[in-house]
Amino acid sequence: MTGALGAKTDEDSMADQAINQGAIRATMSPRIVEHPRDWQSHWSARLQVCGETEFMRQVERTYGGESADEEQLNLVLEAVIDGLTLSERDILLDVCCGNGLVTRRLSAICRRVVGVDYSAGLIEIAKRHHSAGNVAYLCGPADRIASEPWEGEAPTKTLMCDSLQHFDESGLRDFLLTMERLTGGNSPILFTGVPDASKMSAFYNTEERRADYERRKQNGTEAIGTWYGRELLIEVLGEFGYEPEFRKQDSRRFTAHYRFDVVARPIDDELPDKARPRRSRRGM
Ligand SMILES: C[S@@+](CC[C@H](N)C(=O)[O-])C[C@H]1O[C@@H](n2cnc3c(N)ncnc32)[C@H](O)[C@@H]1O
Repeated sequence: MTGALGAKTDEDSMADQAINQGAIRATMSPRIVEHPRDWQSHWSARLQVCGETEFMRQVERTYGGESADEEQLNLVLEAVIDGLTLSERDILLDVCCGNGLVTRRLSAICRRVVGVDYSAGLIEIAKRHHSAGNVAYLCGPADRIASEPWEGEAPTKTLMCDSLQHFDESGLRDFLLTMERLTGGNSPILFTGVPDASKMSAFYNTEERRADYERRKQNGTEAIGTWYGRELLIEVLGEFGYEPEFRKQDSRRFTAHYRFDVVARPIDDELPDKARPRRSRRGM
């Protein structure tokens, strides 16, 4: 691929670079890249390799194998509070809450928080170390959240913090169906730390890392999971009546070079309830 005069353009070089990156080469901006893996077993076994109070490591908030520091956690919290404009009026559903590290801190701002995660071990850690009077933790999968804990009140906002990578496209749809059941699709959802399908080469950025990627892909243990393209998210969220707002991560976050945040807002957010048309655009 060359420019008009036969010389290579920057774009050509980027394309060549992508092409030279083995399985990462398919297109410059793939719609989605899925790596099937048994994530539930992975997370169920997490506490076998982490101590009781190694909270950052338990939820894999690590950088170069080391636990992330408080500054990194604070940057995540700032992005969540800002992305969802959280206040003391909010009932927050924290889906995939892990050990409650983030959940507990957000409970200081919200009226109530319910954390849900399918790892029984991490939920037990959350209950032991990250409890508060206005926090409830439930063990179960994201696409089968019961409505009982809400005591008649639907969550006003939902967070999925650094976990969408564990959902393939069909899993994301199942989750959005659950949200439709729980909230009528009428409240915003923030997905933080979504792996960007157009930035795989920024993550797998050395020969060694690319070789490791190939190995792990073959044996079903790719490190990240699902890498999302913006187009796919626009399409799927749109089907469920949400409009995505893509947000760059603060450059101080160590994941900023290959992940983004996205707030899914109900499209007719500003309409009063009675004037609101049926939300889901699926099947249209
Ligand atoms: C990277 S950790 C993030 C934990 C927490 N949100 C945080 O930011 O610290 C991912 C979490 O997602 C949970 N998880 C993944 N898929 C899930 C699903 N389908 N249902 C419930 N929990 C899930 C895992 O058990 C794990 O605790």
